[in-house]
Amino acid sequence: MKTKPTQATAPGKAILFGEHAVVYGQPAIAVPITQVQATAAVESASRGSGLTIVASDLQKRLTLAEDSRKEPLIAAARLTLSHLSAPEPDATLTIRSTIPIAGGLGSGAAVATALVRALANFLSHRLKPAEVSALVFEVEKIHHGTPSGIDNTVIAYEQPVYFVHGKSVERLTVKEPFTLLIADTGRPSPTGKIVGRVRRARQREPARYDALFDQIGDVTDEARRAIEMGDIEAMGPLMDENHELLIELRVSSPQLDELVETARLTGAMGAKLSGAGRGGNVIALVEDSTAAEVAEALKEAGAVQVIRTKVGR
Ligand code: MEV
Repeated sequence: MKTKPTQATAPGKAILFGEHAVVYGQPAIAVPITQVQATAAVESASRGSGLTIVASDLQKRLTLAEDSRKEPLIAAARLTLSHLSAPEPDATLTIRSTIPIAGGLGSGAAVATALVRALANFLSHRLKPAEVSALVFEVEKIHHGTPSGIDNTVIAYEQPVYFVHGKSVERLTVKEPFTLLIADTGRPSPTGKIVGRVRRARQREPARYDALFDQIGDVTDEARRAIEMGDIEAMGPLMDENHELLIELRVSSPQLDELVETARLTGAMGAKLSGAGRGGNVIALVEDSTAAEVAEALKEAGAVQVIRTKVGR
């Protein structure tokens, strides 16, 4: 029997506060970024062909029969089928994404989320955000080893979240919308590798690293209060403080620092690296009146792309 073609999408994400510390039990705040997205489309294929996954951007064509347990797309499909107790369908699932790969915007989690949703829809199931998030968390472990779970959570719920590993998800109320610029360095930010480096550094200097994680947790809690009260002015200095703490964790880079500095000098209220760091992106909190000027300066300073987004609307 031919099943109707289906399609599903998933947004990117940006971490506003708390990256890295969140891996060690501290809170973090993240928001979905809808200007970039992953899309998965599923259509019936000939009888007996099984499931083929085509990732056009990565020039990958995979079948479930392949023994590639390390391949996240196959893992996402297998986990979904097993969660639904469904047999492998005869279908072609095509993935596309406008989210820069390893760019700190959650591309891996978004692609897996779109895939899980599209495959479930094709099999006439509607999964709840919590189910999607749990499945994608398993896939994230293949990418990252020890993910905190924040990427799959914010992407599956598609809402601003205050996240603590192992606790139930708290949706964050944004009292006053605010504008962010996301400046992409164009350099990769391989999360698993960087998280691994931080882990080894913490093993060498546990007291120093745990103190830094505690301080980042405090900044995140203050930021939560500011966001919930609509105190946007308070957020800028908290972003600056979080960036300084990330420098101390040694996850920044000269290019990230330069973009942060450029944003501040041209009128941003605050700026920081976002995500795992080393490469990836910088986020800057801006007033609408200065957004264009700051974005231009970020491009002149080497950002390959600047996304403007409104959080809380
Ligand atoms: C990556 O988006 C955020 C990190 O905190 C890793 C994680 O939380 O799994 C660096």
